[in-house]
Amino acid sequence: MCGIVAYIGSREAYPIILKGLQRLEYRGYDSAGVALLDKKLEIYKKKGKVAELEASLVGKNLHAQAGIGHTRWATHGEPSDRNAHPHRSSSGKLAMVHNGIIENFAPIKKELVSKGYVFESDTDTEVLLHFIEDIYKHDAKSLEEAVRIALKRIVGAYVIILLDQDHPDTLIAARKGSPLVIGIGKNEHFLASDASPIIEYTKEVVYINDYEMAIVKPDELILKNPGNERITPFITKLDMELAAIEKGGYDHFMLKEIFEQPTAVFDCLRGRLDPKAGTIRMGGIDKHLDLLKEAKRIILVGCGTSWHAGLLAEYVFEELCRIPVEVEYASEFRYRNPVIHPGDVIIAISQSGETADTLVALENAKKQGAFIFGVVNVVGSSIARLSQAGAYTHAGPEIGVASTKAFTAQLTVLYLIAMKLGFAKSAITKERYLHLINELALIPEKINEVLRKADDIKILAEKYKDARDFLFLGRGYNFPIALEGALKLKEISYIHAEGYPAAEMKHGPIALVEEGLPIVFVATKDAYHEKLVSNAQEIKARKGKVLAIITENDTIFHEIADETIAVPAADEILAPLLSVVPLQLLAYYTGLAKGLDVDKPRNLAKSVTVE
Ligand code: AGP
Repeated sequence: MCGIVAYIGSREAYPIILKGLQRLEYRGYDSAGVALLDKKLEIYKKKGKVAELEASLVGKNLHAQAGIGHTRWATHGEPSDRNAHPHRSSSGKLAMVHNGIIENFAPIKKELVSKGYVFESDTDTEVLLHFIEDIYKHDAKSLEEAVRIALKRIVGAYVIILLDQDHPDTLIAARKGSPLVIGIGKNEHFLASDASPIIEYTKEVVYINDYEMAIVKPDELILKNPGNERITPFITKLDMELAAIEKGGYDHFMLKEIFEQPTAVFDCLRGRLDPKAGTIRMGGIDKHLDLLKEAKRIILVGCGTSWHAGLLAEYVFEELCRIPVEVEYASEFRYRNPVIHPGDVIIAISQSGETADTLVALENAKKQGAFIFGVVNVVGSSIARLSQAGAYTHAGPEIGVASTKAFTAQLTVLYLIAMKLGFAKSAITKERYLHLINELALIPEKINEVLRKADDIKILAEKYKDARDFLFLGRGYNFPIALEGALKLKEISYIHAEGYPAAEMKHGPIALVEEGLPIVFVATKDAYHEKLVSNAQEIKARKGKVLAIITENDTIFHEIADETIAVPAADEILAPLLSVVPLQLLAYYTGLAKGLDVDKPRNLAKSVTVE
């Protein structure tokens, strides 16, 4: 949830940490801070965005070659200067940043208070820091040992990095549940929550696993397992370019990423879909095809937008593979004690690959013998490493908090899997299989056609930006897209919006309809079209405003609707890849028209690494 950066080496630490925090700000922007160690330990922190911290430090002597930094998504203690990280220990010699939640901080705090410790903040993090220092002072020979002892008592998730005034050449880091990657340079090391702060300095990285500790010096990286044994760091080469994490001339990452969708879908298909040969090749599927063909059921697990991708995949897998499918909110699936049979296939969907609810739900299911197949965007992420097989979505880094290109790339991978499995199981004919292959190959260009309507959608957004509520309706494959459209508008414009299966309206929600209420119909041509036309007339009869995403040349819906955005015709099963794009743009331009920060919407973060 929070973003953590650290540096130790021969360069000036502050500019590296500041830029790193700017790159990680999509992980949380309630407050920011940095601790720098030259001769003395200096800590600077401020409520608000990284820019406010930077402004408050102009003119200060920030010289140091070791430092830690943090950008916060508040869990324990409201956003404020005193709850901002880094925290300082009671001796004043230790500073610590933390990403995660210490669930048993209260009893530990009680113990420490009884020992006379005084707390500056309301955070769980400060409790852990005082706890570590207490052990360091009384029971441990080294800070590393004190950290190891303390973490044995901790329940929850964490990445922590400590700076010690008495040992300015060493950083201590540890991980459980939250992500940590270490970049290896010449006589320098970079530590961060993900690779984006590291990419411009080195492509050689080590992904730290749960319960591992890192003792980091300028010229040495020592990794230790939970048994305190040294382990050899597994170095991975980053396959990402700096340009991918820059705005590239767009005003916002969200707009850039919406316009990157033709390329994202194309990259997702590249090397997998071969229209000429009429084949789909996917290493992760090919290797386990028999297991997947014999699967008694498929369970799709995810959160937020990834859950919406799963919901659409339920329709697609049942249609093309004739396998029973269930879709689960990871947070509910993890605690519901679900019935899992060995051999059940779980498809985990996650852009970041670090969402705590999804990660822990998978760990539980894996323990019960389920086969985990990951559909993930971030290479080397925890869910990717936990999965027994998988397919990356190749959408490239997604920085905007609202997921857009990762969603269409997730759908594309799920379509490929369903088409391949359906044909392998002879649940679809060769003719249908080849038809869908050719249709899917046309999608990138068709998305380009939709993007050419951006200005029309901008006008629509400005017209309806002051609406108090919105409803989004769809049927069949377009129902999950209606949910996704509502989520995007909520996230970006803070307008209350709900998505429904259109036929559900008569069972209650239609009571909400009054004069002028904007209701978006995701109405591309499909088997449900006539029914949807009737649903739209029911809304019109109650003076609701019908805004419709329609298939080009659909004169019937064009007649009924107050506003229409037409998308190119496509096989109804693939049309969601087109109909979602205008909804992403509607959300973007509505947020823009309301003067909101569309890349960093309030109260949100890109990767939810705490429960
Ligand atoms: C979507 O715009 C949101 N950022 C959020 O709902 C997101 O989809 C959810 O947190 C899941 O994230 P993941 O795909 O990285 O697991």
